[in-house]
Amino acid sequence: MIWLVVITQQMLAQSPHGKNFAIDCATCHHPENWSYQQNKATFSHDSTAFPLVGQHKDLDCRSCHQTLAFDQAQSNCVSCHSDIHQQTVGNDCARCHTPQSWIVEDVTQMHENVAFPLMGVHANINCNDCHQSETNVRFSPTGVTCIDCHRADYVNTKKPDHVKNNFSNDCAMCHGLNGSAWSTEIIDHSFFPLEQGHKIDDCKACHLAEDYSIISAECISCHQNDFNGTQNPNHAMSGFSNNCIECHTISPSWKPVTFTDHDGRFFLFTQANTKAYGPTV
Ligand code: HEC
Ligand code: HEC
Ligand code: HEC
Ligand code: HEC
Ligand code: HEC
Ligand code: HEC
Ligand code: HEC
Ligand code: HEC
Ligand code: HEC
Ligand code: HEC
Repeated sequence: MIWLVVITQQMLAQSPHGKNFAIDCATCHHPENWSYQQNKATFSHDSTAFPLVGQHKDLDCRSCHQTLAFDQAQSNCVSCHSDIHQQTVGNDCARCHTPQSWIVEDVTQMHENVAFPLMGVHANINCNDCHQSETNVRFSPTGVTCIDCHRADYVNTKKPDHVKNNFSNDCAMCHGLNGSAWSTEIIDHSFFPLEQGHKIDDCKACHLAEDYSIISAECISCHQNDFNGTQNPNHAMSGFSNNCIECHTISPSWKPVTFTDHDGRFFLFTQANTKAYGPTV
């Protein structure tokens, strides 16, 4: 009896597991020897704050607990795995990785999380075209606005010269991600809607010069000839305003016409057509 107590005390004294270690030795050790025998131990790592899953499951205890003072182990990934990304994505590895593998399955989702969905022309280019760095796994911030990556494209434009015309740096205002390179298929032209009589495919019908420098939006600037050519009624002789939208919309053939001017000028010259053209009031 005395012998046993002495032995146990000796053993406790030489326990490598640290001072405050409170788990019964028999949970892990068999009286025969001090090596840890998986099949005989009743200890479950699930009882700790760090369940062993994925590729951690079958590791030797010592690969994580070198000192055998179990409570010294830190549970955040970066305390055991070196940061291959060199501080470009932070220390919270578990944001993107699991102990199953380092492969990131859903790169698409990852980019949605940083408000830069990889769509259209951006969907099929190499990671390194955007993440330019010395290694494949340094993801230094690139910025998420178009100009952050396309400044050179912007500065080098000739037709039209974007700098000279002071076009917005928000390329998406005029360029879509789904068309071919820098085409303006989705150009947002809502400041001067291209519909009805202005639903014209050829931009150059209005933008006569190669560049898209600001042109006047006033009807007369483009429709002087139409105005001069009118016969029925003859607009110039009738003293009609140059501001066509007083009577016209942009609907094709200059019809319908709304005319609410009550000063009578119009009737003087259109007696025969009073019915057709008369005031709408
Ligand atoms: C949670 C499981 C667990 C418990 C509980 C535990 N041990 Fe251990 N012990 C281990 C592991 C794992 C090893 C390393 C075994 C190996 O590498 O073969 C170890 C190794 C040892 C060693 C050998 C040290 C060395 O350098 O090889 C001694 C001595 C030891 N434990 C004593 C104790 C004593 C005394 C207790 C009770 C106070 C105890 N252990 C409780 C898991 C445990
Ligand atoms: C992949 C790494 C890893 C492996 C392998 C591993 N552990 Fe752990 N273990 C940890 C971490 C991390 C903690 C700390 C959890 C926490 O934050 O409390 C821990 C905690 C513990 C604790 C509780 C310590 C305390 O007092 O809080 C014990 C006991 C333990 N491990 C025993 C073992 C044994 C026995 C083995 C082998 C069967 C083992 N561990 C294998 C990482 C590991
Ligand atoms: C206490 C230390 C420890 C912690 C904490 C830890 N690991 Fe591990 N992990 C290891 C060890 C040891 C290995 C075995 C291979 C090695 O030595 O790198 C391993 C292996 C892996 C592997 C297998 C691929 C490889 O590198 O061999 C992955 C994936 C992994 N860990 C991911 C993670 C993730 C994700 C976290 C955080 C959620 C994490 N680990 C936390 C110690 C740890
Ligand atoms: C924002 C997401 C993100 C975070 C956070 C992150 N990683 Fe990664 N990691 C990646 C991506 C993406 C890859 C490339 C994986 C691929 O190609 O499938 C990668 C790859 C790896 C690889 C494999 C490298 C190779 O050459 O195959 C390791 C190891 C790794 N990461 C460790 C870490 C560690 C350690 C941390 C924490 C310090 C961490 N990662 C944090 C996204 C992340
Ligand atoms: C078209 C450009 C583009 C491509 C292609 C691209 N990325 Fe990104 N990526 C970004 C932008 C923009 C961010 C956000 C960066 C910022 O905030 O400065 C980002 C962020 C990241 C992050 C950090 C995410 C986080 O949560 O911190 C990782 C990791 C990453 N990308 C990995 C990849 C990998 C791997 C690929 C290839 C499969 C890839 N990227 C392809 C533009 C791209
Ligand atoms: C993180 C960097 C990055 C950001 C931010 C970014 N792009 Fe890109 N983009 C690229 C790269 C890299 C390519 C492919 C190489 C190239 O053609 O410049 C590309 C290609 C394109 C192309 C096709 C060009 C061609 O010649 O085929 C268009 C169009 C485009 N981007 C529009 C945009 C728009 C619009 C935005 C803003 C909403 C934007 N990009 C934001 C990196 C970026
Ligand atoms: C106000 C509208 C507008 C904005 C904003 C705009 N663009 Fe353009 N861009 C155009 C038009 C119009 C064209 C001529 C398209 C055509 O000929 O089909 C063009 C053509 C281009 C071309 C090809 C022409 C050349 O000379 O190489 C590039 C490259 C280009 N844009 C880049 C950009 C970039 C980069 C941005 C943002 C930083 C941007 N654009 C912003 C209207 C715009
Ligand atoms: C029916 C005439 C008309 C057609 C067709 C037309 N535009 Fe315009 N566009 C205008 C007018 C007018 C303005 C000036 C609007 C203003 O200043 O309010 C303008 C302005 C612009 C601007 C300058 C915007 C800025 O912010 O500097 C661009 C770029 C442009 N148009 C591109 C195009 C493209 C590309 C097409 C062909 C898809 C096109 N336009 C077709 C009449 C037209
Ligand atoms: C920048 C030049 C430009 C400006 C400004 C402009 N238009 Fe036009 N408009 C055109 C062109 C080009 C056409 C197509 C060719 C044609 O029919 O003259 C057209 C066609 C029309 C048509 C259809 C004509 C038909 O025969 O079907 C109407 C109606 C019209 N415009 C009304 C207006 C009105 C009203 C305004 C002022 C709010 C206006 N436009 C301003 C260039 C312009
Ligand atoms: C005071 C009202 C009024 C104003 C202002 C006005 N129009 Fe008219 N316009 C009419 C009326 C009325 C008609 C005949 C409509 C019909 O036949 O149904 C007409 C018809 C036309 C026609 C077709 C008839 C023809 O002889 O070819 C054209 C083209 C035309 N207008 C162009 C213009 C242009 C361009 C402007 C501006 C620069 C303008 N109009 C301003 C009232 C106006």
